[in-house]
Amino acid sequence: MSNSEIYHNPEARAWKYTYDTDIRLAQAFHRRLPGYQESPLVPLPELAEQLGIRAVFVKDESSRLGLPAFKILGASWGTFRAVAEQTILPLDSSLEELASAAHRVNTVLFAATEGNHGRAVARMGKILDVPVHIFMSRFASRETCQKIESEGAHVTVTVVAGTYDDAVTKAYDESRRVPNGLLIQDNAFEGYERVPAWIVEGYSTLLVEVEQQLQHQGLEASTIVTPIGVGSLGHAVVAHCKSGGKHINVLTVEPENAACLHHNLKAHKWFTIETSATIMNGLNCGTVSPISWPVFVKGVDASITISEVECHNAIQYLNAHGVNSGPCGAASLAAVRKGATIDPKATGLAEDAVVVLLSTEGARNYPIPRSCADLIKRRP
Ligand SMILES: Cc1ncc(COP(=O)(O)O)c(C=O)c1O
Repeated sequence: MSNSEIYHNPEARAWKYTYDTDIRLAQAFHRRLPGYQESPLVPLPELAEQLGIRAVFVKDESSRLGLPAFKILGASWGTFRAVAEQTILPLDSSLEELASAAHRVNTVLFAATEGNHGRAVARMGKILDVPVHIFMSRFASRETCQKIESEGAHVTVTVVAGTYDDAVTKAYDESRRVPNGLLIQDNAFEGYERVPAWIVEGYSTLLVEVEQQLQHQGLEASTIVTPIGVGSLGHAVVAHCKSGGKHINVLTVEPENAACLHHNLKAHKWFTIETSATIMNGLNCGTVSPISWPVFVKGVDASITISEVECHNAIQYLNAHGVNSGPCGAASLAAVRKGATIDPKATGLAEDAVVVLLSTEGARNYPIPRSCADLIKRRP
């Protein structure tokens, strides 16, 4: 393995991010949602010892507001802000006030998704009791469609003939055809930037929780590892890590088959890549959200890609250590394991490191990667 497998930007350490809005509003809103609780921060002392670092923790997002992924944090705040703007409500309004304002103007929510985001928007539709239209690519599994539909009779799921990008275009077009249709999308595109920016703000709650959970143990994170799809979560991670006087290292991770940020960073240029199938469905994105790209260029310390097998092995490890983690979530562990063998310094794994792995989703079914399946078959 050569160092070229890691992108490293030593200048990112000192870079400063300044929030242009008050993210405490998002935290206060999340606390008003039914069933809000901090997600667990689980220590992995054995892994810290193996890596030769001070501590490793996993932020376990397998049960966030009753859903098996972190996405509801962004989708809920994005929906709240969009409906509040549409109905001219103040940002400290209650959910009841929001729901009755949405009814008054017949709000309809739209989104395109690979799965978790769409289910989160569908859940917000249920909370507000408004219709939701979700669009998915032709790669969508029946199981994923059913999970979104399980949010209730107010949800319609449509599978389009094309890719995820085609599903986004369809969702956008449909949202504009309906009076008071609102597209709640987590990736920005030309002319559509405000809702994705609110979704990024919504994810900050997860990072503030991490900070407070570590503070209770007298610790501070030195490295946070985040999976990247379109990059909205990663954007929130960089913002947190490089603001308020903090200089926390950010290590991003993507599947080898869909490493849009990694390739963009290496080329120092924003462009779309071709992706192919991966068990890390939520990370299968070919274009970094354009509002997040400038933040990544300045603020990502290191970026790494992982194989399907490395991801599968990381899932097995986490599950064996009591952490309920699916493919996108376990990618963070696979990244530090790989980083430790290639270049521990560049990946933020110094001896005194306190590393936080964001495990963004709980366990789910996925096809066992081929080389692992072959090994299992060959066993006597
Ligand atoms: C479980 C999971 N983890 C991580 C991500 C990546 O988040 P983002 O697309 O904001 O980069 C996604 C995106 O859908 C996801 O579903």
